[in-house]
Amino acid sequence: MDQFDLLKQETLNCTKCSLSKTRNKVVFGEGFRNAEIMCIGEGPGYYEDQRGRPFVGKSGQLLDKIFAVCGFNRNEHVFIGNIVKCRPPNNRDPLLEERETCIPYLYKQIELIDPKIIVLLGATALKGLIDPNARITKVRGEWMQWNNRLVMPTFHPSALLRNEKLKRPAWEDFKKIVAKYREIINPEHYSEHC
Ligand code: URA
Repeated sequence: MDQFDLLKQETLNCTKCSLSKTRNKVVFGEGFRNAEIMCIGEGPGYYEDQRGRPFVGKSGQLLDKIFAVCGFNRNEHVFIGNIVKCRPPNNRDPLLEERETCIPYLYKQIELIDPKIIVLLGATALKGLIDPNARITKVRGEWMQWNNRLVMPTFHPSALLRNEKLKRPAWEDFKKIVAKYREIINPEHYSEHC
């Protein structure tokens, strides 16, 4: 077993916080394990908890559509993870203690996957990884640096589903991600729409 499989096994068996008592399945994350792009969400919702996979509900369908338009997919280009790996009951926000207990798993995932670009989906990912006082509405769409990696904060897909008006700015953010991908990873990267 390599380090990645070991980390996955450890995560799937985790009982470090009380979310482990109410979860159905741990959602480790999925995608290409040498992905150059890592997307980070908040935590599993109902469907993710049922299936043990990230972003498989309505937000996930929208995220997959956005990826497709960018010429990206889960198998070849991205790895999708979350700040917490287990569903908070009734989809409440994950508590500070739960986030702090879980984040070492995310740090290890980032180290092993070693992406050049990190996409933070929404406020919980931004605050959890970068700065608890950062505001997504202020910093989205601007490249940041974190541990020598490029970070693009943008809206969570569920915010786009709640408010249509956010779709345009989110699309601008993803266009920047595609442009950066072409600049630093693959100048030949093909996408139909940008
Ligand atoms: N929302 C998230 O933030 N993560 C998921 O995995 C699913 C929905």
